Amino acid sequence: MPSADSYASHIAPLPSAAKGLEMTTETAGLLEIADRHITKGLGRMRDHIFKEGKGLRVLTTEGKQLLDFTSGIGVTSLGHAHPDVTAAIIAQAQSIIHVQCAIALSEPYVQLVESLLPMMPDPSLDSFFFWNSGSEAVEAAIKVTRAKTKRNNIIVMGSSYHGRTSGAVALTRSKTVYSKGTGPLMPCVFTTPFPYWHAMGVSKETSEEELVAQACLQLDNLLLQQTAPEDTAAIFIEPVIGEGGYVPAPAAYLQHIRKVCDKHGILMVADEIQTGFGRTGKNFAVEHANVVPDLMTFAKGFANGMPISGIVTKKDILAVMPPGSLGGTYSGNVVACAAALATTRYMRTHDVLANVNARAEQVFKGLREIQADKANGGWLIEEVRGSGLMVALEFKSPTSRFTSSIPADLPQDIVLPPNINALVQNECLDRNLLTLTTSIFPVLRMIPALILTEEDVDEMLAILKESIKVVAAKIEATGNAATQA
Ligand SMILES: Cc1ncc(COP(=O)(O)O)c(C=O)c1O
Repeated sequence: MPSADSYASHIAPLPSAAKGLEMTTETAGLLEIADRHITKGLGRMRDHIFKEGKGLRVLTTEGKQLLDFTSGIGVTSLGHAHPDVTAAIIAQAQSIIHVQCAIALSEPYVQLVESLLPMMPDPSLDSFFFWNSGSEAVEAAIKVTRAKTKRNNIIVMGSSYHGRTSGAVALTRSKTVYSKGTGPLMPCVFTTPFPYWHAMGVSKETSEEELVAQACLQLDNLLLQQTAPEDTAAIFIEPVIGEGGYVPAPAAYLQHIRKVCDKHGILMVADEIQTGFGRTGKNFAVEHANVVPDLMTFAKGFANGMPISGIVTKKDILAVMPPGSLGGTYSGNVVACAAALATTRYMRTHDVLANVNARAEQVFKGLREIQADKANGGWLIEEVRGSGLMVALEFKSPTSRFTSSIPADLPQDIVLPPNINALVQNECLDRNLLTLTTSIFPVLRMIPALILTEEDVDEMLAILKESIKVVAAKIEATGNAATQA
């Protein structure tokens, strides 16, 4: 084998084509190509073209610097282009880029498993399979739980999001847009309400105890009325409902699900694709409830931007899968494994969780102050919630009978728009802050890199405060008193 240190020594270049290739570089030209040739099935909040990213800062082709409180939807947990991860990617790409998992193992693949084992919420979770996207991890979870239990039915939570591929989308309940017009979807999926006041149609003053009692009753009834336990393979739950509005599952609810699963031989699947790897202040969100699921799915923050996902489960569960039943051309790609190894190694050798918890405290304190400042738009915020650095603001909604009343010192005929979250997001964007909207209710969410600083949080809070104030002023101006003045 030729030596690896010289490209020319083992790759014979082919003759060059006569003409070089020219590529569009200016922003307007790139946008024109995108407009004509890239599917409109992709939503995009604004036509930015990102050129560079470092930490929480992103630079666009037009020279705008943005403060990123999205981390690409919970992916760049160590910040954009983290030097350890980038170095690992470069080193791996210079060595070998594709090791097909049905042909051979690679060092990073096996070392990644070794690095993950001590991070798991329980030693019983010791058997892994890697795929590429979160949706694929969910597909694997569907397949494995059905194969293990020899049962078909799956229970999911109302408001849940599990992905867009065929099986995963059949489990998704956050919005109809993901599956509308594309059925029939995979059958045998049953929905039970998640203990979230708005989705359950009760007021936000309803106690957590009552929400849990209602949700437990509905789950128990589902197993008596619609899907017999003997036909039920798994219950899937996001420990913090993500796309459905960043609502943490109360510990008592997760514990009830664990009990139900134990009683009936149903497998409990925790979808930790968004919540995993430190996002909520623990390695995995199920740890807040001291619950050990039978299977966990993970992706996103796991490899700081390289596409890799996985499932982890118990040895006897994964043992039912015969050779060849799991896999895929790119499954557990070696460069992605190297990136995940560097990410998990950084997490294990630095106190990332302490930073998540300290910054989360700062964020929630700041948001509650903005909410309390009624004179500057705080009245628009119905609820501040989340877990760790999954942070959400739910705004008032004109269509909800649970929206609290307009403060007495404001005109009572103010016209509330249905999308206050998007209006605030837009104002934030004008001030170079990236945030996300989510849910069928007006929710603004933030999911920044876990390594963010106190100054990053201060900057975000200042921009958000100003944005809410501007939106509130416009909404207040629709009121009677203001129009007559
Ligand atoms: C909880 C959860 N499950 C599954 C998915 C699907 O992952 P992916 O978009 O990588 O397919 C997501 C993505 O947002 C998610 O948040």
